Amino acid sequence: MICLGIEGTAHSIGVGIVKEFKKKCKVLTNLIKIYRSEQGGIHPREAANHHAIYLADLIKESLKKAKVEARDIDLVSFSRGPGLGPCLRTAATAARALSLTLNKPIIGVNHCVAHLEIGRGTLDGCNDPVLLYTSGANTQVIAFAEGRYRVFGETLDIGIGNCLDKFGRTVGLDFPAGPKIEQLALNGGNYYNLPYTIKGMDIAFSGLLTAAEQYYKKHKNLEDICYSIQETTFAALTEVTERAMAHTEKNEVLLGGGVAANKRLRNMVATMASERGASFYVPSKDLCIDNGAMIAWLGILMYNSGVHMEIKDSIIDQRFRTDMVDVTWRE
Ligand code: ATP
Ligand code: FE2
Repeated sequence: MICLGIEGTAHSIGVGIVKEFKKKCKVLTNLIKIYRSEQGGIHPREAANHHAIYLADLIKESLKKAKVEARDIDLVSFSRGPGLGPCLRTAATAARALSLTLNKPIIGVNHCVAHLEIGRGTLDGCNDPVLLYTSGANTQVIAFAEGRYRVFGETLDIGIGNCLDKFGRTVGLDFPAGPKIEQLALNGGNYYNLPYTIKGMDIAFSGLLTAAEQYYKKHKNLEDICYSIQETTFAALTEVTERAMAHTEKNEVLLGGGVAANKRLRNMVATMASERGASFYVPSKDLCIDNGAMIAWLGILMYNSGVHMEIKDSIIDQRFRTDMVDVTWRE
C-alpha cells in the first residue's frame, strides 16, 4: 500500500509518500517547506496562505521524486490536529480534493501519535518506546498503555522549542534560535541557577525564560546563559522521561520533534537510557521535524486496522489530544 500524507499543523507544510514493506515504513519521498515571518513568530493566516501557495507544487514534485503515478496512490492522509486552525484547514482541504480527484480513501491522523509511529515504523528494534516529543509548540512524554497513547508528562505553559526561540528573539538571535543556542552553549560553562520546574510529571518553562532574560540583561554573558538554559530544561525533560519509563516499565526511549536535533539533549537522554539498560532511538532529522511521511505512515497503520473515514467526517480538530485516539493497530 502507498500513501500520500499531508502535514500542515503549524510552520511547515510537508508532503510525504510512503510504502508499507514487511510491516515497516519505506519512505519514498518527504518534502517540507517552512514558513518564516520577518518578526520570527507565526501568524496563522499567513502561514496557511504560505501552505496554500506551495502545496500543489509540493504534491507534484513528490510524485515525480518518488517515481509514483498519481493513480498508484492507495490512500491520502492528513494531520487532523492538534495545531493552528487555518493551517490544518489548508492541509485538510488539499487532502479532500486529492482524495476526490483520485477516488481514493482519505484518513485524518493525530500529529503527536504520528511522531511516535514513524520511529516504530522506521527504526529496527524500536517497538514499544516512551517518546520524548520536543518541538516548537509541543512538549510531551507519550507511551502506549491500555489501548491508547497516553501523555505521561507535558509542558504546562510553552513548548521547549518555543522557550528557546523566545529567548533567542529577546537577545537578538535569528529564528529558529534552537540551533544557535546549541552552538553558543558549547562555549559556555558557568552555570546560572535557573528555575527547574517540575510539577508531578509536568514541566513549565516560562519562569525559566523570564529568569534567563533577566540574567542576560544584567550579565550579557550569552554563552553561559545558553549553556544554563540547555542544562536545566534538558535535565527536567530527561527526568520526566525517566520517570515515565520506570512507571510503564518500558526499556526503549525515542526522541521526536525539532529539538531532538540537539546533541546535548540526545546525549542526556542516551546516558539516562544506558544507565537503565534501555535502548535509545532517534529518527533521521527529516523524520523528527514535522513531516508528511509520518502522517502518511500513520494513515497506513490506521487504514489497515480498519479505520475508514468519509469526506464529511474528515474534519480538523485544533485540540486533538494524543489520548483521544483509539489505537486499533496495536495489540
Ligand atoms: P510542532 O508543530 O510539532 O510544534 P514545530 O512547527 O515547532 O512543530 P519542529 O520542526 O518540530 O517544528 O521544531 C522546531 C523547533 O525546533 C524550533 O523551536 C527550533 O528552535 C528547534 N530546534 C531545531 N534545531 C534545534 C537544535 N539543534 N537545538 C535545539 N532546538 C532546535
Ligand atoms: Fe510536531
